[in-house]
Amino acid sequence: MSARPVFLFSSTQERAAVFAPAFAADLPEVGFATDAAAVEADDVRYLLTWTIPQDLARYRNLQVVFSIGAGVDQFDTVGLPPKVALVRMVEDGIIRMMQEYVALAVLALHRDLPAYRAQQEAEIWRALPPRQAEGRRVGFLGQGMLAQAAMERLKPFGFPLAGWSRSARSLEGVESFHGADGLGAFLARTDILVCLLPLTDETRGILNADLFARLPQGAALVHAGRGPQLDASALLAALDAKHLSAAMLDVTDPEPLPAGHPLWRHEQVIVTPHVASVTQAGTAARAVIDNIRRHQAGEAMIGLVDRARGY
Ligand code: NDP
Ligand code: OXD
Repeated sequence: MSARPVFLFSSTQERAAVFAPAFAADLPEVGFATDAAAVEADDVRYLLTWTIPQDLARYRNLQVVFSIGAGVDQFDTVGLPPKVALVRMVEDGIIRMMQEYVALAVLALHRDLPAYRAQQEAEIWRALPPRQAEGRRVGFLGQGMLAQAAMERLKPFGFPLAGWSRSARSLEGVESFHGADGLGAFLARTDILVCLLPLTDETRGILNADLFARLPQGAALVHAGRGPQLDASALLAALDAKHLSAAMLDVTDPEPLPAGHPLWRHEQVIVTPHVASVTQAGTAARAVIDNIRRHQAGEAMIGLVDRARGY
């Protein structure tokens, strides 16, 4: 039996083709494996995966589970021994893609793209009254890694920015709110609401009729968190009542959005198929290798999940 620690990789072949040479070059003391059947289970110290495998108990010496995604709600951590650390994906590629998506969505809603798309369908050439960025208040539900990066991208446009989180945050150029007490004031000052919250028991269903009612008339929604955070019927009702003006949704519940679902056809809704941001193998391999080095040195890993908190 080899005593060499093994990193077991459970993702796509394409990603494996990028991770394998990176490990060979930069972390040769750790074996890289993609075939669970071909490794000695007791040698597996690290696992990279999207969900926890059924046979996790085989890996008695497992120390860290790395999530292939930034979100970890898909992990049923009940079966994960407390001594095993869970680490979410924090890497430059996923951050950059989310910056692009949020900028795209906020600008699309700011510049009335859904309305112009509907006018085009009807062959109508009509200018809608423009609004300046300085007068369009953008607010983020969540002030974490992805929200902060997206805020940075939006700053040059001049939108007044705000964010809401569980704990108090102090971010330059951002009006920050937190906790249940801060939510009302945050929503009241938000014209474009961007949801970048993790899915937890507290955030499930948070985008509901009550929350929409607390937004100003004509507000719009960008949802790139997780599908179960949104009450789709409440969104459709708020759009049909013209309380909300438009929405851009990257996540739905369920995914894929079923055929015939009213969100597909709603004039004021743009749907993308959970593509806002995707882990990029090159930068992800770098981030995981750096984290293993931190772990080996007894340092804190970046993206360590607080399992009690759920994110
Ligand atoms: P972070 O953990 O860095 O940030 C989460 C933020 O949400 C924090 O500011 C946190 O508050 C806040 N938060 C959590 N729970 C609550 C609550 N109950 N009330 C108020 N605020 C809360 O996460 P990321 O920015 O990295 O990612 C956010 C989510 O984006 C992921 O969990 C995933 O679901 C989603 N995602 C979507 C993708 C897509 O393609 N659509 C791609 C990648 C991620 P505090 O600061 O106090 O901790
Ligand atoms: C993620 C995602 O969490 O792709 O990384 O949604």
